[in-house]
Amino acid sequence: MEILFFWLLVCLANQNEANGAREETRVHSEITSVPGDLPSDIEKLNIYRNRIEVIRQMDFNDKFPKLWFLNLCSNLLVNVEKGCFKGTILNHIFLSNNQLTAIPDFREVSYSLEYIALISNNITKISTEEINYLPKLRTLYLNSNPIVSLLDAHFSPPPPFIILGLEGISIECHCGVAWLKRIPDLRIDTNPCKHPPEWNSTSLDEITEEMLLKQPITTGHLYMCVSFVLTQLAMQPGYLEFRLLGYK
Ligand SMILES: *[C@@H]1O[C@H](CO)[C@@H](O)[C@H](O)[C@H]1NC(C)=O
Ligand SMILES: *[C@@H]1O[C@H](CO)[C@@H](O)[C@H](O)[C@H]1NC(C)=O
Repeated sequence: MEILFFWLLVCLANQNEANGAREETRVHSEITSVPGDLPSDIEKLNIYRNRIEVIRQMDFNDKFPKLWFLNLCSNLLVNVEKGCFKGTILNHIFLSNNQLTAIPDFREVSYSLEYIALISNNITKISTEEINYLPKLRTLYLNSNPIVSLLDAHFSPPPPFIILGLEGISIECHCGVAWLKRIPDLRIDTNPCKHPPEWNSTSLDEITEEMLLKQPITTGHLYMCVSFVLTQLAMQPGYLEFRLLGYK
């Protein structure tokens, strides 16, 4: 219930702003694709609670030069085509409560996008390549996705964004996720570690980055820990030797 309330809040937060922006709203109308009759000068578009499954390049590309706010929550989205949103100035995108299995490609708006909400989708894995080309990203909500792996998402140097939402997601706590400790505003469950068992009722606040770095990955990803530790800790004499010995 709490989670549901939360994404509603995130989805509807900006609805009552009376700032005179050119805004179009088509909600609760069972539409199955982005309407083709939208005025080209829109700044904000709300098409949540419909039945849209796919966002195609032709839906937005080179049509809405002022569009910065797009709310597509609570549709049936399974795919956002690569290369969408060209020619917009997209800054906020709300995609919560859909069925996306990966973070969409936002390369066409990589220099304007600051806020992405993807709560309650079907994302199982995130990788560095999916987010590290977004220099302005400040907020990324991934709460309540069935994420099983944050392993490839090493952020080195630390990520540029400040809010990362991972509530409702249990993680394996080991060196591969030590980067989480460098997120300025991490929103995560009180006891997020499903592994190792001795941390299953420990708050992430009590687990330091160093403790995570000392925790090996148990399931066939040994090399990742070693390379991660190499890049993160090459500067600390003695530590690396200890780490490698720890794997014997
Ligand atoms: C997303 O997850 C829901 C609930 O588990 C499932 O019913 C649906 O088929 C999934 N959709 C996709 C595209 O994976
Ligand atoms: C947490 O770990 C302990 C062992 O340290 C185990 O007995 C317990 O069942 C675990 N709890 C959960 C919820 O996994």
